[in-house]
Amino acid sequence: MPNTSSKCGITLDFTNAFTDNLNDANKITPTDLSAVQSKAKQAFTAVEENIKNGLFGFAKLPYTPESELDTIIATADDIARNFSDFVVLGIGGSALGNIAVQSALNHPFYNLLKDEVRPRLFILDNVDPEYINGLLDILPLEKTFFNVITKSGTTAETMSQYLIFQDIIKKRLGDKAFRKQFLFTTDPEKGVLRKIADKEGVRTLSIPQDVGGRFSVMTPVGLFSAAVTGINIKNFIAGARAMDQTCRNQDIFANPALMYAVIQHIMDTSKNKPMAVMMPYVQALKDLADWYRQLLAESIGKQYDRNGNIVNLGQTPIKALGATDQHSQVQLYKEGPYDKIITFIGVKNYRETVKIPDDYKDIEQLSYLGNKTLNQLIKAEQDATTVALARSNRPSCTITLDKLDAKTLGALMYMFEYQIAIAGELYNIDAFDQPGVEEGKNLTYAMMGRKGYEDQKELVEQELDKKSDKTVISW
Ligand code: PA5
Repeated sequence: MPNTSSKCGITLDFTNAFTDNLNDANKITPTDLSAVQSKAKQAFTAVEENIKNGLFGFAKLPYTPESELDTIIATADDIARNFSDFVVLGIGGSALGNIAVQSALNHPFYNLLKDEVRPRLFILDNVDPEYINGLLDILPLEKTFFNVITKSGTTAETMSQYLIFQDIIKKRLGDKAFRKQFLFTTDPEKGVLRKIADKEGVRTLSIPQDVGGRFSVMTPVGLFSAAVTGINIKNFIAGARAMDQTCRNQDIFANPALMYAVIQHIMDTSKNKPMAVMMPYVQALKDLADWYRQLLAESIGKQYDRNGNIVNLGQTPIKALGATDQHSQVQLYKEGPYDKIITFIGVKNYRETVKIPDDYKDIEQLSYLGNKTLNQLIKAEQDATTVALARSNRPSCTITLDKLDAKTLGALMYMFEYQIAIAGELYNIDAFDQPGVEEGKNLTYAMMGRKGYEDQKELVEQELDKKSDKTVISW
């Protein structure tokens, strides 16, 4: 049964971005907040207008009809019954959401579970030859299903992976097996992959044309692989819907996405915090920070504003993990430059409780741990790091989930998407394009000899020729 309650199960605590513990240079003062009120209201209104006019495709996804979700679930269940392994070929927005959802909601060692009746899941988001061949070494090809995900249908990494795997399957198992073992998730009309699907009779799922890659986790891009592994995608979408309803509120204190967008914006533009660290204290959310890293970087990192002025703006997203990175990054966060705002993510209740045995009662350095739980320890570490940073004038926000499940994850991911839409308005940039990525893609096409890109090939070669024995040394 889908969870239809409208409560999101998410708390945003911004005390440590405002607290008196911090000096004015590193906190948001009432004056800072009131100075931005009217801008925040304008940003909210602009996002609302765009949503009402159907221009922000991502905001339609929480209302995806049940029948569409049923179709995805039925296809996924059929594949889960017939295959032992499921491979996603995709990159960027066509992979990061899938990875984040999988690690958040499935067993931490899902692929290694002996009695798992659902297929193992591999998401290949790179073209390193060792990585691809390594996977080939372990896949039982006749029991493996391939989901090729590319909105444009032309991305070099995804399409080269596709060329490799389709060739192997066709040669070893034949054309019939190829049709049975592949499904394309792509644009409903455009792109090479759509053409191949039509010509070769491959099943497809469509990505709505008005939803860009990094906002597509709630389309078949993210939903299909999630459903194959048994994740409740209806609850995931219900969570996004609950958050959407919460975010349709211009009161900054009632709208977590608006508040979070405003905090990040003030920190970046008025408090010299160009670094945005996301640090979950939940191992399962490690890859969520990776997904958010792309969402923030590609959406807000822009050269031009909407009026064509050169602005070169955008916070640099940094992903960290508690408690792991307390022993790696926190030294820098506490004593390095005052250039970071940190977002901690925690849960009220972990899905497991692990008690620490009270052996070695006579060793003072260990006895304090005895009879406590790992739950208490990791929570204490999160609180201690938050306080230690605040005491050194390092601002932070804390997002807490009541528990990590499909519904709260849907709500959280949607909150971040909404935050980024608001941020686009606050910065007056287009948060939905990625011209900086396109140039790299085009130069790659040129280097790989794609027709029509010959001039650009020369340009890259000239640049590469500038290397000399004074600037490149091998030892
Ligand atoms: O957010 C984006 O639009 C990009 O990161 C794309 O997802 C990425 O470049 C892959 O593109 P495509 O899905 O067209 O293969």
